[in-house]
Amino acid sequence: MIPQAEKGKQMHLSKRIMVTGGCGFLGSHLCERLLEQGHDVLCVDNCFTGTKRNIRHLLNHPDFEFIRHDVTFPLYLEVDEIYNMACPASPIHYQFDPVQTTKTSVHGAINMLGLAKRVRARILQASTSEVYGDPEVHPQPESYWGRVNPIGIRSCYDEGKRCAETLFFDYYRQHRLKIKVARIFNTYGPRMHPNDGRVVSNFIVQALKNEPITVFGQGQQTRSFCYVDDLIEGLIGLMNSSDEMIGPVNLGNPAEFTIMELARKVIELTGSASEVIYKPLPQDDPRQRKPDIALARKELQWQPVVGLDEGLKKTIAYFERLLEEENR
Ligand SMILES: NC(=O)c1ccc[n+]([C@@H]2O[C@H](COP(=O)([O-])OP(=O)(O)OC[C@H]3O[C@@H](n4cnc5c(N)ncnc54)[C@H](O)[C@@H]3O)[C@@H](O)[C@H]2O)c1
Repeated sequence: MIPQAEKGKQMHLSKRIMVTGGCGFLGSHLCERLLEQGHDVLCVDNCFTGTKRNIRHLLNHPDFEFIRHDVTFPLYLEVDEIYNMACPASPIHYQFDPVQTTKTSVHGAINMLGLAKRVRARILQASTSEVYGDPEVHPQPESYWGRVNPIGIRSCYDEGKRCAETLFFDYYRQHRLKIKVARIFNTYGPRMHPNDGRVVSNFIVQALKNEPITVFGQGQQTRSFCYVDDLIEGLIGLMNSSDEMIGPVNLGNPAEFTIMELARKVIELTGSASEVIYKPLPQDDPRQRKPDIALARKELQWQPVVGLDEGLKKTIAYFERLLEEENR
């Protein structure tokens, strides 16, 4: 039997694909999947929030290269496609150096769009549901323009991502670039950062350590949780869609849960003795978040298939291994 990677090459489907932010949570899964499909993958990352540990298993792969580089500086390489994933994604990380966060989104987009223009590569932007801010429309369709505070502590991320979308669309209109904009909603899974304050990793780590589970407010705010494998299929599907399909397109899981429901599920699945404790809601914390994925369903024939219990079990298994390694 011909291995998957060889099959791709024999059919001349192999492409040179750059993944910025490739050492991160989503980026590392994307690199892995693209290699499985037989492509040459160039992972570009400055290892700010991502780590080489996430790509350790890929480093000896003959079609994989890692380049340590900060996307706020230009980079010139021959590639066919660019997935622009580089950007710290959790509030703890993006608020650590907010000016650098805006630079990563805005200068990073300019540099990657410049490269795509030069080598005529297709380019996909990892945008976010945060472009909708604290929405008055629920669930959020792509046509909704959002309600974002331009001067708050989350603005470096939200407005940075909004500006990156603007740049993508201006490069499309002005330079006829082949762009794709994905608005990613909460995604979780193995290789999430254990201490980045994101709700799924937070709850799991707290539960596994039998520490109190911290719920902000009364836990009645809702979120939707997409398992990483589903999201990666959506991103690749978007990249491979027709040139007209530029987005923005929501990618996420529309199943909606309150934060309290998530806390109960995590306690149950880990068999933890943790109790729930309540803390004040952070500034500009959205009350509701749920994607309208009608467009992705219609244009990409994509929808998530992994349910919350199944995804949580895989994620819990990952964090169990990680904590064991740390305690060794
Ligand atoms: N995970 C989610 O739920 C989610 C939701 C919406 C959008 N996104 C977007 O998806 C992308 C990936 O998110 P993630 O969850 O994997 O986060 P992550 O923090 O794990 O990954 C981001 C990666 O980008 C790298 N990076 C940061 N600044 C950089 C710079 N200046 N130059 C080069 N590399 C840099 C980091 O080191 C890291 O490896 C981000 O753009 C994020 O905004 C993620």
